[in-house]
Amino acid sequence: MRIIFIGPPGAGKGTQAARLVSHFDIPHVSTGDMFRAAVKAGTDMGKLADEYMRAGNLVPDDVTVGIVRDRLNEDDAKAGVLLDGFPRTVPQAEALEAMLNAEGMAIDAVVLLEVPDDLIVDRIVGRRSDPETGAIYHLQFNPPPAEIMDRLVHRKDDTEEAVRSRLAAYHAQTAPIIPFYEEKALVKRVDGVGTPDEVTERIIKALS
Ligand code: AP5
Repeated sequence: MRIIFIGPPGAGKGTQAARLVSHFDIPHVSTGDMFRAAVKAGTDMGKLADEYMRAGNLVPDDVTVGIVRDRLNEDDAKAGVLLDGFPRTVPQAEALEAMLNAEGMAIDAVVLLEVPDDLIVDRIVGRRSDPETGAIYHLQFNPPPAEIMDRLVHRKDDTEEAVRSRLAAYHAQTAPIIPFYEEKALVKRVDGVGTPDEVTERIIKALS
Protein backbone atom coordinates (compact mmCIF):
# COMPACT_ATOMS: atom_id res chain seq x y z
CA MET A 1 0.00 0.00 0.00
CA ARG A 2 1.27 3.50 -0.89
CA ILE A 3 -0.27 6.27 1.17
CA ILE A 4 0.33 10.02 1.30
CA PHE A 5 -0.43 12.08 4.43
CA ILE A 6 -1.27 15.71 3.77
CA GLY A 7 -2.26 18.29 6.35
CA PRO A 8 -1.22 21.60 7.86
CA PRO A 9 1.74 21.76 10.26
CA GLY A 10 0.72 20.20 13.57
CA ALA A 11 -2.25 18.34 12.07
CA GLY A 12 -0.92 15.11 13.60
CA LYS A 13 0.74 13.57 10.52
CA GLY A 14 3.80 12.35 12.42
CA THR A 15 1.74 11.11 15.37
CA GLN A 16 -0.64 9.17 13.13
CA ALA A 17 2.07 7.95 10.73
CA ALA A 18 3.90 6.23 13.61
CA ARG A 19 0.71 4.32 14.45
CA LEU A 20 -0.28 3.52 10.87
CA VAL A 21 3.07 2.12 9.74
CA SER A 22 2.81 -0.60 12.39
CA HIS A 23 -0.78 -1.29 11.39
CA PHE A 24 0.07 -1.62 7.67
CA ASP A 25 3.68 -2.80 8.11
CA ILE A 26 5.13 -0.25 5.67
CA PRO A 27 8.04 2.20 6.12
CA HIS A 28 7.41 5.78 7.27
CA VAL A 29 9.09 8.27 4.93
CA SER A 30 8.99 11.79 6.38
CA THR A 31 10.80 14.51 4.43
CA GLY A 32 10.81 16.69 7.56
CA ASP A 33 12.58 13.91 9.52
CA MET A 34 15.07 13.39 6.66
CA PHE A 35 15.89 17.10 6.54
CA ARG A 36 16.30 17.26 10.35
CA ALA A 37 18.67 14.25 10.20
CA ALA A 38 20.72 16.02 7.48
CA VAL A 39 20.84 19.21 9.59
CA LYS A 40 22.06 17.19 12.59
CA ALA A 41 24.69 15.44 10.45
CA GLY A 42 25.91 18.84 9.17
CA THR A 43 25.80 17.84 5.47
CA ASP A 44 25.69 20.52 2.73
CA MET A 45 22.09 19.60 2.02
CA GLY A 46 21.33 19.89 5.76
CA LYS A 47 22.84 23.39 5.90
CA LEU A 48 20.75 24.47 2.93
CA ALA A 49 17.54 22.92 4.33
CA ASP A 50 18.12 24.46 7.77
CA GLU A 51 17.84 28.00 6.39
CA TYR A 52 14.47 27.28 4.80
CA MET A 53 13.11 25.30 7.74
CA ARG A 54 13.99 27.87 10.41
CA ALA A 55 12.09 30.50 8.44
CA GLY A 56 9.11 28.17 7.98
CA ASN A 57 9.58 28.05 4.19
CA LEU A 58 9.61 25.03 1.90
CA VAL A 59 12.93 23.54 0.84
CA PRO A 60 13.33 23.85 -3.00
CA ASP A 61 11.58 21.16 -5.04
CA ASP A 62 14.71 19.81 -6.77
CA VAL A 63 16.39 19.06 -3.42
CA THR A 64 13.25 17.51 -1.92
CA VAL A 65 12.42 15.37 -4.96
CA GLY A 66 16.04 14.15 -5.02
CA ILE A 67 16.00 12.84 -1.44
CA VAL A 68 12.63 11.17 -1.91
CA ARG A 69 13.74 9.52 -5.15
CA ASP A 70 16.79 8.06 -3.37
CA ARG A 71 14.66 6.86 -0.44
CA LEU A 72 12.02 5.22 -2.64
CA ASN A 73 14.77 3.32 -4.47
CA GLU A 74 15.70 1.53 -1.24
CA ASP A 75 14.50 -2.08 -1.00
CA ASP A 76 12.19 -1.64 2.00
CA ALA A 77 10.14 1.01 0.14
CA LYS A 78 9.42 -1.12 -2.94
CA ALA A 79 6.34 -2.93 -1.59
CA GLY A 80 4.68 0.03 0.09
CA VAL A 81 5.29 3.31 1.85
CA LEU A 82 3.65 6.00 3.96
CA LEU A 83 4.79 9.40 2.68
CA ASP A 84 4.48 12.05 5.42
CA GLY A 85 4.99 15.66 4.31
CA PHE A 86 5.66 14.82 0.66
CA PRO A 87 4.52 15.92 -1.87
CA ARG A 88 3.95 19.49 -0.73
CA THR A 89 3.76 21.30 -4.08
CA VAL A 90 2.20 20.47 -7.45
CA PRO A 91 5.65 20.01 -9.10
CA GLN A 92 6.55 17.53 -6.29
CA ALA A 93 3.26 15.65 -6.89
CA GLU A 94 3.98 15.50 -10.62
CA ALA A 95 7.54 14.30 -10.01
CA LEU A 96 6.28 11.57 -7.64
CA GLU A 97 3.73 10.41 -10.20
CA ALA A 98 6.42 10.18 -12.89
CA MET A 99 8.75 8.29 -10.51
CA LEU A 100 6.07 5.73 -9.60
CA ASN A 101 4.73 5.37 -13.16
CA ALA A 102 8.24 4.54 -14.39
CA GLU A 103 8.20 1.55 -12.01
CA GLY A 104 4.58 0.56 -12.82
CA MET A 105 3.45 1.74 -9.37
CA ALA A 106 0.80 4.17 -8.15
CA ILE A 107 -0.51 5.91 -5.04
CA ASP A 108 -3.45 4.07 -3.40
CA ALA A 109 -4.79 6.86 -1.16
CA VAL A 110 -4.14 10.40 0.00
CA VAL A 111 -5.18 11.03 3.61
CA LEU A 112 -5.98 14.70 4.19
CA LEU A 113 -5.90 15.42 7.93
CA GLU A 114 -8.12 18.45 8.53
CA VAL A 115 -7.47 20.67 11.57
CA PRO A 116 -8.54 24.34 11.75
CA ASP A 117 -5.76 26.94 11.80
CA ASP A 118 -6.76 28.26 15.24
CA LEU A 119 -5.83 24.91 16.88
CA ILE A 120 -2.48 24.62 15.08
CA VAL A 121 -0.38 27.16 16.98
CA ASP A 122 -1.18 25.59 20.39
CA ARG A 123 -0.36 22.12 19.09
CA ILE A 124 2.97 23.23 17.62
CA VAL A 125 4.21 25.46 20.41
CA GLY A 126 3.56 22.72 23.02
CA ARG A 127 5.20 19.92 21.02
CA ARG A 128 8.26 18.13 22.42
CA SER A 129 10.06 15.19 20.72
CA ASP A 130 12.16 12.46 22.26
CA PRO A 131 15.45 12.21 20.29
CA GLU A 132 16.07 8.69 21.67
CA THR A 133 12.79 7.07 20.62
CA GLY A 134 11.38 9.55 18.08
CA ALA A 135 8.15 9.75 20.14
CA ILE A 136 6.12 12.95 19.79
CA TYR A 137 4.54 14.50 22.90
CA HIS A 138 2.57 17.60 23.77
CA LEU A 139 3.00 19.33 27.12
CA GLN A 140 -0.77 19.52 27.56
CA PHE A 141 -2.48 17.10 25.13
CA ASN A 142 -0.06 14.16 25.38
CA PRO A 143 2.21 14.85 28.38
CA PRO A 144 5.59 13.08 28.42
CA PRO A 145 6.67 10.97 31.43
CA ALA A 146 8.46 13.15 34.02
CA GLU A 147 11.65 11.03 33.90
CA ILE A 148 12.38 11.86 30.23
CA MET A 149 11.51 15.59 30.42
CA ASP A 150 15.20 16.66 30.47
CA ARG A 151 16.09 15.03 27.16
CA LEU A 152 13.11 16.27 25.14
CA VAL A 153 13.67 18.59 22.19
CA HIS A 154 11.68 21.65 21.11
CA ARG A 155 12.06 21.97 17.32
CA LYS A 156 13.74 25.17 16.07
CA ASP A 157 10.84 25.80 13.66
CA ASP A 158 8.21 25.41 16.40
CA THR A 159 8.11 29.11 17.24
CA GLU A 160 4.87 31.02 16.80
CA GLU A 161 6.46 33.16 14.06
CA ALA A 162 7.72 30.16 12.05
CA VAL A 163 4.38 28.38 12.46
CA ARG A 164 2.57 31.33 10.88
CA SER A 165 4.94 31.10 7.85
CA ARG A 166 4.48 27.32 7.70
CA LEU A 167 0.70 27.72 7.71
CA ALA A 168 0.92 30.36 4.97
CA ALA A 169 3.15 28.02 2.92
CA TYR A 170 0.63 25.21 3.45
CA HIS A 171 -2.30 27.26 2.16
CA ALA A 172 -0.39 28.82 -0.76
CA GLN A 173 1.77 25.92 -1.96
CA THR A 174 0.45 22.64 -0.55
CA ALA A 175 -3.35 23.05 -0.65
CA PRO A 176 -3.26 23.16 -4.50
CA ILE A 177 -2.22 19.48 -4.54
CA ILE A 178 -5.60 18.52 -3.05
CA PRO A 179 -7.50 19.09 -6.35
CA PHE A 180 -4.60 17.33 -8.16
CA TYR A 181 -5.40 14.14 -6.18
CA GLU A 182 -9.16 14.74 -6.02
CA GLU A 183 -9.25 14.51 -9.82
CA LYS A 184 -7.81 11.02 -9.40
CA ALA A 185 -10.42 10.19 -6.69
CA LEU A 186 -7.66 9.38 -4.18
CA VAL A 187 -8.41 11.87 -1.38
CA LYS A 188 -9.79 10.64 1.98
CA ARG A 189 -10.69 13.62 4.16
CA VAL A 190 -10.27 12.83 7.86
CA ASP A 191 -11.23 15.06 10.78
CA GLY A 192 -8.00 15.54 12.76
CA VAL A 193 -9.73 17.02 15.82
CA GLY A 194 -10.27 14.58 18.67
CA THR A 195 -8.02 12.27 20.63
CA PRO A 196 -5.14 10.62 18.72
CA ASP A 197 -6.96 7.25 19.15
CA GLU A 198 -10.14 8.63 17.61
CA VAL A 199 -8.19 10.05 14.66
CA THR A 200 -6.37 6.70 14.11
CA GLU A 201 -9.72 4.89 14.01
CA ARG A 202 -11.06 7.37 11.44
CA ILE A 203 -8.01 6.94 9.21
CA ILE A 204 -8.15 3.13 9.31
CA LYS A 205 -11.87 3.26 8.50
CA ALA A 206 -11.27 5.70 5.61
CA LEU A 207 -8.58 3.40 4.18
CA SER A 208 -10.49 0.13 4.57
P1 AP5 B 1 7.61 18.63 8.70
O1 AP5 B 1 8.47 17.99 9.71
O2 AP5 B 1 6.92 17.77 7.71
O3 AP5 B 1 6.59 19.56 9.49
P2 AP5 B 1 5.04 19.93 9.25
O4 AP5 B 1 4.38 19.45 8.04
O5 AP5 B 1 5.01 21.38 9.49
O6 AP5 B 1 4.35 19.04 10.24
P3 AP5 B 1 4.73 18.86 11.73
O7 AP5 B 1 5.81 17.84 11.87
O8 AP5 B 1 4.97 20.21 12.36
O9 AP5 B 1 3.36 18.37 12.34
P4 AP5 B 1 2.59 16.99 12.21
O10 AP5 B 1 1.41 17.14 11.31
O11 AP5 B 1 3.52 15.85 11.94
O12 AP5 B 1 2.03 16.93 13.70
P5 AP5 B 1 2.52 16.07 14.97
O13 AP5 B 1 2.05 14.67 14.83
O14 AP5 B 1 3.97 16.30 15.27
O15 AP5 B 1 8.42 19.72 7.87
C1 AP5 B 1 9.24 20.66 8.52
C2 AP5 B 1 9.89 21.55 7.47
O16 AP5 B 1 10.71 20.75 6.58
C3 AP5 B 1 8.94 22.30 6.54
O17 AP5 B 1 8.48 23.51 7.13
C4 AP5 B 1 9.86 22.55 5.33
O18 AP5 B 1 10.76 23.61 5.58
C5 AP5 B 1 10.65 21.25 5.26
N1 AP5 B 1 9.98 20.25 4.40
C6 AP5 B 1 9.49 19.05 4.80
N2 AP5 B 1 8.94 18.41 3.76
C7 AP5 B 1 9.08 19.22 2.67
C8 AP5 B 1 8.68 19.12 1.31
N3 AP5 B 1 8.01 18.04 0.84
N4 AP5 B 1 9.00 20.14 0.50
C9 AP5 B 1 9.67 21.22 0.93
N5 AP5 B 1 10.05 21.40 2.22
C10 AP5 B 1 9.76 20.40 3.08
O19 AP5 B 1 1.62 16.78 16.09
C11 AP5 B 1 1.87 18.13 16.48
C12 AP5 B 1 1.59 18.28 17.98
O20 AP5 B 1 0.20 18.06 18.23
C13 AP5 B 1 2.35 17.25 18.86
O21 AP5 B 1 2.74 17.87 20.05
C14 AP5 B 1 1.31 16.15 19.14
O22 AP5 B 1 1.54 15.50 20.38
C15 AP5 B 1 0.01 16.95 19.14
N6 AP5 B 1 -1.12 16.18 18.63
C16 AP5 B 1 -1.10 15.25 17.63
N7 AP5 B 1 -2.34 14.74 17.45
C17 AP5 B 1 -3.15 15.39 18.34
C18 AP5 B 1 -4.54 15.31 18.63
N8 AP5 B 1 -5.35 14.47 17.96
N9 AP5 B 1 -5.03 16.13 19.61
C19 AP5 B 1 -4.21 16.99 20.29
N10 AP5 B 1 -2.88 17.10 20.06
C20 AP5 B 1 -2.36 16.31 19.09
